[in-house]
Amino acid sequence: MKPWTFVHVADLQPGSPKSYRYNPSWIKNWEMAKQQILKIMPDLLLVGGDITRDGSIHKYELEEMKANLDSLPFPYYVIPGNMDTGNKHVRHSGHYRGENQCSDIELNVTSTQLQQFSNIFGELWWSIEHKGVRFSGCPDVLINSGLPEENLFWTWAEEQIRQTLTEHHVWITHYPLFIESLNEGNWDISTPKQYHDWYFSIDNPGRMRLMELFKATATDIVVSGHVHCHKVSYAEKIRFEIAPATSFGQWGDRWHDGNAELGFLRYDVIGKEIKSTFIPLEKTYALEGYGPGGHPAPHVRDYSIAWEKS
Ligand SMILES: [Fe+2]
Repeated sequence: MKPWTFVHVADLQPGSPKSYRYNPSWIKNWEMAKQQILKIMPDLLLVGGDITRDGSIHKYELEEMKANLDSLPFPYYVIPGNMDTGNKHVRHSGHYRGENQCSDIELNVTSTQLQQFSNIFGELWWSIEHKGVRFSGCPDVLINSGLPEENLFWTWAEEQIRQTLTEHHVWITHYPLFIESLNEGNWDISTPKQYHDWYFSIDNPGRMRLMELFKATATDIVVSGHVHCHKVSYAEKIRFEIAPATSFGQWGDRWHDGNAELGFLRYDVIGKEIKSTFIPLEKTYALEGYGPGGHPAPHVRDYSIAWEKS
């Protein structure tokens, strides 16, 4: 078969000038990535979540990015990230970040947020086949949540095990399955030094259950986002690739082989091989924006400073 290409992007989160906070660099960085991807002209695009900065509270951010992605001349497949819906579930909060920031429990993803995302982008989980490669999307923000949608996901996942095997199977998740190794324990949200490790990984029991699903569905690559730092690990012969962000980089010093440069991943399917290449953005922007970072509490979201009035 003639070689062909697919591309993975994550953490675009351009935000909106109608919001209480906005950084104009991030939409410009995404538009740069888009120009580069259009030159590659892949068969399809995988979008690994955090498509919006605050889609969890602003439906219009989801709608704007849907229109933006719909303008692409090739199909794209999306999973939600925590900024599009809400965060992975926790039963107690980590360190107190002050009254101006939400607690971790307040950020737990809800059924309403998942429904809002689904109303705009379609199914929360999916599996398609293209030229002998199977692609599956896992809405991992809901793993370990106990929400009704989680039960529905696992029922669907069990059905996937009975599907015909393909030469390759690529899954996408938003959160990486682990930080250092598959068998590490859950990171401790209440220990400040482990907070980010907790924030960026999937907890057990869901982690190992997903791993069993990946193995049972003959997976060779799992691509995640969320961390904004490119990093490759292997576990049980599966390539776990954390994608770079297009918006902003972070956590470049967490691993000796992490790369927080902005970019996206290009995958070339050549014969029986899938070759992965990190593509850096040709140009990045550092413009002035406004508004607070983190996960601001509702009372500090000041829409009077928005550049565009809605
Ligand atoms: Fe994220």
